[in-house]
Amino acid sequence: MGLLRCITVFILVCFLSVIHHNGVEGSHIVYRGLQSISTSGVKHLHRTGYHFQPPKNWINEYATAPMYYNGMYHLFYQYNPKGAVWGNIVWAHSVSADLINWKALEPAIYPSKFFDKYGCWSGSATIIPGKGPIILYTGIVDTQNTQVQCYAIPVNRSDPYLRTWIKPNFKNPIAIAEKTINGSAFRDPTTAWLGKDGQWRMLVGGRNFNIGMAHLYRSKDFLNWVLAENPIHSANTGMWECPDFYPVSLCGKKGLDLTSIGEENVKHVLKNSLDLTRYDYYTIGTYSSAQDKYVPDNTSEDGWGGLRYDYGNFYASKSFFDPSKKRRVLWGWANESDAAQDDIKKGWAGIQAIPRKVWLDSNGKQLVQWPVEELNSLRGKKVKMGNQKLQKGDYIKVEGITAAQADVEVSFSFSSLKKAEEFDPSWKNAQELCGKKGSKVEGGVGPFGLLTLASEKLEEFTPVFFRIFKAPHNKHVVLMCSDASSSSLKKQGLYKPSFAGFVDVDLADKKLSLRSLIDHSVVESFGAGGKTNILSRVYPTLALMNKAHLFVFNNGTEPIQVENLNAWSMKSAIMN
Ligand SMILES: *[C@@H]1O[C@H](CO)[C@@H](O)[C@H](O)[C@H]1NC(C)=O
Ligand SMILES: *[C@@H]1O[C@H](CO)[C@@H](O)[C@H](O)[C@H]1NC(C)=O
Ligand SMILES: *[C@@H]1O[C@H](CO)[C@@H](O)[C@H](O)[C@H]1NC(C)=O
Ligand SMILES: *[C@@H]1O[C@H](CO)[C@@H](O)[C@H](O)[C@H]1NC(C)=O
Ligand SMILES: *[C@@H]1O[C@H](CO)[C@@H](O)[C@H](O)[C@H]1NC(C)=O
Repeated sequence: MGLLRCITVFILVCFLSVIHHNGVEGSHIVYRGLQSISTSGVKHLHRTGYHFQPPKNWINEYATAPMYYNGMYHLFYQYNPKGAVWGNIVWAHSVSADLINWKALEPAIYPSKFFDKYGCWSGSATIIPGKGPIILYTGIVDTQNTQVQCYAIPVNRSDPYLRTWIKPNFKNPIAIAEKTINGSAFRDPTTAWLGKDGQWRMLVGGRNFNIGMAHLYRSKDFLNWVLAENPIHSANTGMWECPDFYPVSLCGKKGLDLTSIGEENVKHVLKNSLDLTRYDYYTIGTYSSAQDKYVPDNTSEDGWGGLRYDYGNFYASKSFFDPSKKRRVLWGWANESDAAQDDIKKGWAGIQAIPRKVWLDSNGKQLVQWPVEELNSLRGKKVKMGNQKLQKGDYIKVEGITAAQADVEVSFSFSSLKKAEEFDPSWKNAQELCGKKGSKVEGGVGPFGLLTLASEKLEEFTPVFFRIFKAPHNKHVVLMCSDASSSSLKKQGLYKPSFAGFVDVDLADKKLSLRSLIDHSVVESFGAGGKTNILSRVYPTLALMNKAHLFVFNNGTEPIQVENLNAWSMKSAIMN
């Protein structure tokens, strides 16, 4: 019967692939001639010391099925075993006891069945009470990129590393695109949750013309899945990749597992990765289990101007609940900002952001993120600065740490907001505003902040800073920038955006804090305690290793006080 079913599915799949002649999906730039050029050597110049990366080659959609099981954290990621550009994708697998030091294992999932012959794309892990983990992922069945949802299970769930995964023939694939679904835009199943009605539910990302959506499936046994009539939510924003849906507590920083979905005293978060803009957006909202509908709050914009986990280079993220520390942890992938040819030369491409704990802000309107506490175990030599006044034009070096591989926490204060520049209400786009008003444009209150990965004479630097504007009704607008435009003297083939986001923060105490994780080619920053976060990829030519420096600076007329600055040299993590 299993065989018959497989044959039926196979015929159906072939039939569907005839209908959907959509060609190659636009989400990955495909370099056919380059994807199997093997990596001959690995250049270490810009490799990270403590941000996750494999020893070589391309990674993307890293945050595939993160989980904690039997005392181990597992990380699977989309990986090209053959080269440094996208292609030949398998699920690479690493394990860790602390989320910081990683051990690489053999790839866990790779094409081996008719339903994933042309690729094993992103997915999620669900831990079934009493039965252990099960992975749902997207299989590519043909050269037209027809997508189906499949499952895999560990051969031996007592193996602490869960090294070997199999894809049973029984009921696999578990979902194929039905008539109403676009089969070449149908991927990235979420972690499933068990509803109070005893049915499992999972979401799959998709699109219908310009409407992006999270298709909803239900199952009584995790094997027979039925498409619900309506998606859990949809919006006019193009293809939704890597949806993620989870509950957050209304008070405190504790994470919740998916059994709290649909409860009264929680909020819900729906995240999707928008293929058209290549950023991760989320809304805070309400989920009604009776209707199986998610509705964003009216404080969460449901579109391209909406809330983002990160206003820099951060995509295809996924969260998981960590029962050992009762927290929700978020992983996101940061691609390179150099050219594919550079990646082939350096032999690697793609890193993972530092895993972040995530919770609901006390205002109920947005999330807050902070690097997991385990990161502090890499902190080495520490230097401090306090009560340091910065007049307009001042920049002061933070001496005594390895500024190319460091962790900096600083709080700034100012005595008045009177000098803040007027905010023009037409400035809707933070990144454009930062492009116009970078660190070199003098201001009133700000720009002030850190100059990271700076060369001695400031030929190169990546400033991470705030700038405060005056808005009508005695309100203020806080802009946070991480500006790569002066980050490198290399002229060709670099993407150097002035990444920026607005910070929804109360300035009553006239203070603003900033934390930056600096790691050779990445500056990952958390503004106002993690309310607005920006990851930038940069490739200094001078500010390398011990030629990199860190400064605090102010370029506004209002004097700024560095209240308290702690900076640490960071040790390297054990990395695969
Ligand atoms: C499963 O893994 C456990 C722990 O490593 C081991 O003791 C056991 O022999 C394994 N079982 C099989 C069937 O390989
Ligand atoms: C289906 O998805 C493919 C790939 O994203 C796209 O090219 C095509 O336009 C979509 N068709 C419809 C009807 O949405
Ligand atoms: C937003 O929703 C809240 C209740 O959830 C309501 O009180 C408020 O009036 C709404 N605001 C707008 C602008 O619709
Ligand atoms: C990756 O890098 C390029 C620039 O090098 C950028 O345009 C693209 O949007 C980036 N992000 C993703 C998620 O692909
Ligand atoms: C501060 O402004 C001056 C004048 O525009 C500029 O030369 C200098 O580079 C700026 N400093 C920083 C850190 O951008």
